[in-house]
Amino acid sequence: MRSLTIHAHTPYNIYIGNHILNDLGKAVAKEFSPCTAAIITDDIVANLYLDKVKNSLERQGFQVITFSFPNGEHSKNLTIYGEILEFLAGKQLTRGDLIVALGGGVVGDMAGFVAASYLRGIPYIQVPTTFLSAIDSSVGGKTAVNLKAGKNLAGAFYQPSLVWCDYETLKTQTYDRFADGIAEAVKYGVLGDKELFRMLREEDLWEQMEPIILRCLTMKERLVREDEFDRGARQLLNLGHTLGHAIEKESDFTITHGHAVAIGMVLIAKVAKAQGISEMDCAAPIIEVLQKHHLPIESPYPIDTYLDTIKNDKKRNGDSIQFVVPKTIGHCALHAVDVNKMEAFLQPIGES
Ligand code: GLY
Repeated sequence: MRSLTIHAHTPYNIYIGNHILNDLGKAVAKEFSPCTAAIITDDIVANLYLDKVKNSLERQGFQVITFSFPNGEHSKNLTIYGEILEFLAGKQLTRGDLIVALGGGVVGDMAGFVAASYLRGIPYIQVPTTFLSAIDSSVGGKTAVNLKAGKNLAGAFYQPSLVWCDYETLKTQTYDRFADGIAEAVKYGVLGDKELFRMLREEDLWEQMEPIILRCLTMKERLVREDEFDRGARQLLNLGHTLGHAIEKESDFTITHGHAVAIGMVLIAKVAKAQGISEMDCAAPIIEVLQKHHLPIESPYPIDTYLDTIKNDKKRNGDSIQFVVPKTIGHCALHAVDVNKMEAFLQPIGES
């Protein structure tokens, strides 16, 4: 098992290992006295792992209650968020108790926001069961629900107390969901880790799972340490996301997050080249690695259909939007574009 400390304003540890789910209770018991642990999960993950996690916590003296909702991005809404809060209040959960987020990004983001807001904040633990959440959303304290106007528009920065990642659980994902995580891993490679990018060129990633996860999280740790509240360097993690989120929304979430980010990375690399920002053609190697893992590289929608969504991106700051642009493979930069000039900036997408 490997571990990594996240140096946010409240530091916490991430543990990464194979077949470690049974030991979660012991790890939690090192940090919390026996109390009520509210597991928040979805129906698919509950079928696979709920009993194991529940038993592991109960063996250490925790009393376990569970809230499960339907799997998928459509569940990440204010209605289900409200239902979870009412459930916890009905069970009289206190600030001395804790929440366990068991699942992928939807579960983690929503359980995290519940933890941030219930009683103005109770502790929570992330137990990611998807590649995507293991290397991104379970770490760094971004919690959220979607609004009708867009993804993650209501939320809070609220760090977990512990992240427990049993990467054996990633094996029960469908290939498509696993590939969502690959796209995010490619993002880390393009951002600042050429060796990781090289490792991702391999077709079979299982042999290298632990080092791949560690490399991604090491970079995330550095950016969170530098800029926990996402005002500067951490925004680099949005490579491919401004276009990706808009494409994801345009598809009504039938194009999943990682797939949309894959398309977003290719498009912004093409724009960066056409606008003379990048020092090399980054799109070609990005396309090569994405195709190796059967990820999409083209948007099914013309740019003008999702331009307004981009203009309303939550990362908009006054009149400008920060795009993350690749300069080389392993080096990206923030590039602010005035909203009024955005159409011209993104024009190369229409031409490609
Ligand atoms: N998922 C991007 C971030 O945590 O900042």
